[in-house]
Amino acid sequence: MPREEVTGKVTAVFSLKNKNAIVTGAGSGIGRAIAEAFAQQGAVVDILELNLDGAAETAAAIESAGGTAATHECDVTDQAATAAVFEKIVAERGSLDCLINNAGIAHVGNVLNTSEDDFDRVMNVNTKGVYNCLKAGVAHMTERGGAIVNIASTVSVMAINDRFAYSTSKGAVLAMTYSVAKDYLEQNIRCNAILPGRIHTPFVDGFIAKNYPGREEEKFRELSEYQPCGRMGKPEEVAATAVFLCSDEASFITGCPYPVDGGTLYVR
Ligand SMILES: NC(=O)c1ccc[n+]([C@@H]2O[C@H](COP(=O)([O-])OP(=O)(O)OC[C@H]3O[C@@H](n4cnc5c(N)ncnc54)[C@H](O)[C@@H]3O)[C@@H](O)[C@H]2O)c1
Repeated sequence: MPREEVTGKVTAVFSLKNKNAIVTGAGSGIGRAIAEAFAQQGAVVDILELNLDGAAETAAAIESAGGTAATHECDVTDQAATAAVFEKIVAERGSLDCLINNAGIAHVGNVLNTSEDDFDRVMNVNTKGVYNCLKAGVAHMTERGGAIVNIASTVSVMAINDRFAYSTSKGAVLAMTYSVAKDYLEQNIRCNAILPGRIHTPFVDGFIAKNYPGREEEKFRELSEYQPCGRMGKPEEVAATAVFLCSDEASFITGCPYPVDGGTLYVR
C-alpha cells in the first residue's frame, strides 16, 4: 500500500501516480519488468511492441495486479507508424509524462565479420528506433515537461569482445540522451540513460542458445562470473532505477548515465 494511504499525510516515495508512461519492448525481459514496476507505482502504462503476445502477457499481469495498461503493435524503426501510435495514446490519455526507450536487439561480431545488413539492422532498431521515439515523445512533452529513460548498456562506454555493431548503437543512445537533456532543459524534460550490465532475460538466453549450442550451462556461468558481484542482474533491478529516474525525487537529475551492472564499470 502506498505510504500516503497508510499515513494519510506522507507523500509516497517514488510514486508515479497520475503519470502516463510509454514503454517500448515491454513484451519481454527488462521492458516487462519496467512496465510492471511503473504500473505498481501508479503509472498508466502503454506498451509498444512487435511481439503482441508478449505485450498482452505483460498487460494482463499489470491488470491482474490492479494496474492499468494497454498494448500497441508498433515497429519502432518505422518513424511514421511510431509517431501515429504516440498521437493516438496521447489523445486517449491526455498527456505523456514518462518515456522508456527499451526495445533493442543483440548482435555478436567484430568489424570484419559484421555484415552491412547486420550493421544496418542493429542500428535501425537500437539507434533509429530510439531516435523515432524521442522525436515522437519529446513533441508531446514540451508543454508540461516529462522524464525519459533510454536503456543503453555498459558497452556504451566500455569494450567487450565482439560487440562492434551493438556497442556502436548503444554509444549513440547515450549521445542522444545527452543531446536531448541539453536541448530541452528549459522545457523541463529530463533525459537519462541506464547502462545495464548483463541482465538475465530471454535476450541473454537467446544469445547463448544461438552462439554456444551445447555449451549453454558453461557459457551461462562464465557470463555470470564476468560481473564483479558474481551474478547477472535481474530485470527488476533495472526497473527500480527507471522508476526512480522518472519519479519526482529525481527532479534534479538529467543527462546522466546510470550503470546497473554489479560493479562491471567501476569495481573491477
Ligand atoms: N539483457 C541484458 O543483458 C542487457 C544488457 C544491457 C542492455 N540491454 C538492453 O535492454 C533492452 C531490453 O533487453 P532485454 O534483455 O529485455 O531483451 P528482450 O529481447 O527480452 O526484449 C526486447 C523486446 O524488444 C522488442 N523489440 C525488438 N525490436 C523491436 C522493434 N523494432 N519495435 C518494437 N519492439 C521491438 C522485442 O519484441 C522484445 O520483446 C535492450 O535495448 C537491450 O539492448 C540488455
